[in-house]
Amino acid sequence: MSFDHKSLALLSEMLEVLEGGFTDLPDYQPAPDIAALRPVLTAAAERMQDNYPYQHPLYAGQMLKPPHPVARLAYAMAQFVNPNNHAMDGGRASSMMEREAVAELAAMFGWKQHLGHLCGGGTMANMEALWVAARVHPGKKIVASDQAHYTHGRISEVLQVPFAPVPSDASGRMDMSALKDMLSVGDIGTVVATMGTTGIGTTDSLEEIINLANTYDCRVHVDAAYGGYFTLADNLNPNTRRSFDCIPAADSVVVDPHKHGLQPYGCGCILFKDPAAGAFYKHDSPYTYFTSADLHLGEISLECSRAGAAAVALWATQRLLPLTADGEFARDIALCRDAACDLHARLSLDDRFLTIIQPELDIVLWAPNASKASAVSALSQKLFDDAAGQNLHLALVELPESLLAPNWPDVEFDTTSATCLRSCLMKPEHAAWMDKIWGILDAIV
Ligand SMILES: Cc1ncc(COP(=O)(O)O)c(C=O)c1O
Repeated sequence: MSFDHKSLALLSEMLEVLEGGFTDLPDYQPAPDIAALRPVLTAAAERMQDNYPYQHPLYAGQMLKPPHPVARLAYAMAQFVNPNNHAMDGGRASSMMEREAVAELAAMFGWKQHLGHLCGGGTMANMEALWVAARVHPGKKIVASDQAHYTHGRISEVLQVPFAPVPSDASGRMDMSALKDMLSVGDIGTVVATMGTTGIGTTDSLEEIINLANTYDCRVHVDAAYGGYFTLADNLNPNTRRSFDCIPAADSVVVDPHKHGLQPYGCGCILFKDPAAGAFYKHDSPYTYFTSADLHLGEISLECSRAGAAAVALWATQRLLPLTADGEFARDIALCRDAACDLHARLSLDDRFLTIIQPELDIVLWAPNASKASAVSALSQKLFDDAAGQNLHLALVELPESLLAPNWPDVEFDTTSATCLRSCLMKPEHAAWMDKIWGILDAIV
């Protein structure tokens, strides 16, 4: 395989355009010592060879996706100025680009007004959401499904807010009757609904969660760090679609442009429906907010310094690939789900495999067929290793008997969980590569 070298010429061209904004300065030419850089960079490139090939369609494992060339180039170009989007003083143009790009993300979820900004990633974005939630309902619990991202419990610990997991059902969604029982105690302030769980790709029933939250006077935070962009897809099943359509009724949403939004790490985004959430961020900063009376993004974010280059990259990507339901970006997101449904269908029709749940988004779970859970685990590990030997890179996931047993009536559970295979088919190219992927699996099982 080879990387895209062609687009690099554009970087040099764009630097010339960028230089056009600084022509009135006295001449100053940074002159890096190329001879000194070469061996160091060569060593770095050689070290980087020791990676799974995340960028290739035969990488069908963890939640990893390469950035779009326009994002890579815009990020690299912006680094020559290296703006800091904490304040207008540190990044004027990039702060405005962040506001535009974030408004487009809010519009994708149907919000005409919002308060939001970019941050390091999903963990930081959820931290802000839960921090605001805990201030709206001081002393009350935060709950999330037992399939929610592990950081919700940990963030609650950091914030010193009580946290409780809600059991999930055999479809991997939050169990609504368990949630109702927990809410009826009256000590819950916030329900976290996950739209795309990290391990198994399920979505919680947002419509019912919002109805219950209204009854019990709770906030609803939607963690759509991984799944958020699927709101643009035209091929979701009706239950999943209904949940996505309810996102505008939530209080806050997290979506990660560095997952499905074609951005380099770290680019997360927190959005609040009510701009009044900004009041919680009020602080003094005697050193930073000077050159503009306009909003400095540091005034509405927990982090201080943030990469302006990340905002430039996201802005450029959304300009090339607008977040519209009829655009190329949406088609590519839908293709990822097509790939997942294709793999799931092939596995379901083949006695050599066990499947678990129909993919809601683009994560497929499966395992080699065996009569006991311990044998399923051993075979999954072997298949994972054998596939890697053929350059097909999968991932493993440990799933509980409560999820597996209802879906595997013929398997005896001699262990309380089983190791299964997990494929995040996050590249649209996976759809066209499915015959090849299946050919490798077929040959090694
Ligand atoms: C649903 C969900 N929430 C939160 C996170 C944490 O995001 P990050 O790794 O960007 O901090 C992830 C990461 O996979 C996720 O899938």
